[in-house]
Amino acid sequence: MITEKDIGQVFASILERIQDEGLRKKTIRAWVLGCERGGWESVEELEALPFTLLTDTHGVNFIEHTIAVTEGAYELAKVQEAAYRQMPYKIDQDRLLAGGLLHDVGKLLEFEPDGKGGYRKSRSGMCARHPISGTALAHEVDLPDEVLNCIACHAKEGDGRPQVVETVLIHQADFATFNPLVMMEKGALIQ
Ligand SMILES: [Fe+2]
Repeated sequence: MITEKDIGQVFASILERIQDEGLRKKTIRAWVLGCERGGWESVEELEALPFTLLTDTHGVNFIEHTIAVTEGAYELAKVQEAAYRQMPYKIDQDRLLAGGLLHDVGKLLEFEPDGKGGYRKSRSGMCARHPISGTALAHEVDLPDEVLNCIACHAKEGDGRPQVVETVLIHQADFATFNPLVMMEKGALIQ
């Protein structure tokens, strides 16, 4: 069983930067709920899970991806704040960190072991992709609407939809980790 303590440790370096204690707790709770519903029993299982089934991840796992995307989005915010004399919009750090940690939480429901050492899309994943199932999980633990937007709209489901700025940053950080792998597979990444 994956506990709140486990999730607290896995994402400690990011969670400690979320100022609002209630938001931090709900973020952890949504992860624990996702693990429970998806049938994931240990952190080792999460670390063995590729972050996508759409392309070869070359060993990049779900936890590493979640950390890279959250930190990437966080840095995108920081560099704008550092470079601009005046920020045209406000970036909410708590929302950005919680949204980053949760953007793919629905994948805990979307993927399942295929019984042959690999993974496949689950029935739940066929019925609702991770932006939808992740939003449902987050709603269940009473996360705020703006964090739901980060989850619901970070991928193609959000194309052309209204978004909080934190969703935009998470989307860009997400595709910065995904696109090079897809390009590699197609022979389109110049190395
Ligand atoms: Fe992602």
